[in-house]
Amino acid sequence: MPPTDTTPDAPTPQEPEGGAKPDGTREGAESAVGKSVSTRKEDAAAGTPAADLPQGGAPGIRFEKVVKRFGDNVVLRELDFTVAPGERVTLIGPSGSGKTTILRLLMTLEKLDEGLIWIGDQTLWHMERNGKRVPANEKHLHEMRKQVGMVFQQFNLFPNMNVLRNLTEGPVRVLGVSKDEAVERARSLLDLVGLADKIDAHPTQLSGGQQQRVAIARALAMQPKVLLLDEVTSALDPELVVGVQDLLRDIARQSDLTLLCVTHEMAFAKDISDRVLMFDQGQIVEEGPPDRIFGDPSEQRTRDFLQAVLAS
Ligand SMILES: Nc1ncnc2c1ncn2[C@@H]1O[C@H](COP(=O)(O)OP(=O)(O)O)[C@@H](O)[C@H]1O
Ligand SMILES: [Mg+2]
Repeated sequence: MPPTDTTPDAPTPQEPEGGAKPDGTREGAESAVGKSVSTRKEDAAAGTPAADLPQGGAPGIRFEKVVKRFGDNVVLRELDFTVAPGERVTLIGPSGSGKTTILRLLMTLEKLDEGLIWIGDQTLWHMERNGKRVPANEKHLHEMRKQVGMVFQQFNLFPNMNVLRNLTEGPVRVLGVSKDEAVERARSLLDLVGLADKIDAHPTQLSGGQQQRVAIARALAMQPKVLLLDEVTSALDPELVVGVQDLLRDIARQSDLTLLCVTHEMAFAKDISDRVLMFDQGQIVEEGPPDRIFGDPSEQRTRDFLQAVLAS
């Protein structure tokens, strides 16, 4: 059975939900980062790691001849790529090319058709039985899934739960963390994203920028080792974009999360990533450091894509 969008064991909602839309209110000059982030930035400079963020042991990712089809539409064509442990990689490519599908496969929200996806030294969609590789059972998927968190374009907060419960529901139900510990961690993460005062608010009472900060905190509350970001600022009002990007950049720098980020925002991609992968027609077209891919791409398809992005 293909995994449903609301996976049975993980309460993270995966599709835009009517109730979770921003209410149109604006924050005005939203502070760039939560105050703990700036404190931690100083800590980081002083060599003290940020206590709330994952440190150590992040696995790499590897796609090996991954095929994904929707009916006759072959979206991933024997796709191969790797992300090293703790590496931060940005994925760029035309709309509709399959970037979200890549992330959703890693979240087990879409089912793999062919090939292998590795997280560290384990396959996500397969497990070993009597020396043979067989399709993963729910228990294997459940264990693998715990390592991966995602922040969505449309925030996807639980619309019927306040901010605190958005952050504690997963840790308590999926990770088996005690309520007290989950609440303590939620407070600390809300402080990190600059929203300590919104702990009792409902998603509809928050602006888009605030909802996305809560969504980031919620993803981190699950203590993932791999974090996936899917065009996380594209649904935000322009004046809120930089604040959320700064927050994510600080989080990325102060943790050793393995990061796979889909974005069209070149400045953000340069800021956040070690490497950029240009993806189109089911495969990686070229890859390299952000400065080279954005400044001097070698493939015509990359040049065309970047020109189109700049023109939009
Ligand atoms: N659940 C689905 N059912 C059918 N087709 C889908 C589904 N999800 C994505 N697709 C198709 O797969 C292709 C890639 O989509 P997507 O991964 O969302 O692209 P991108 O994120 O690069 O814009 C598109 O043609 C899209 O219509
Ligand atoms: Mg997409």
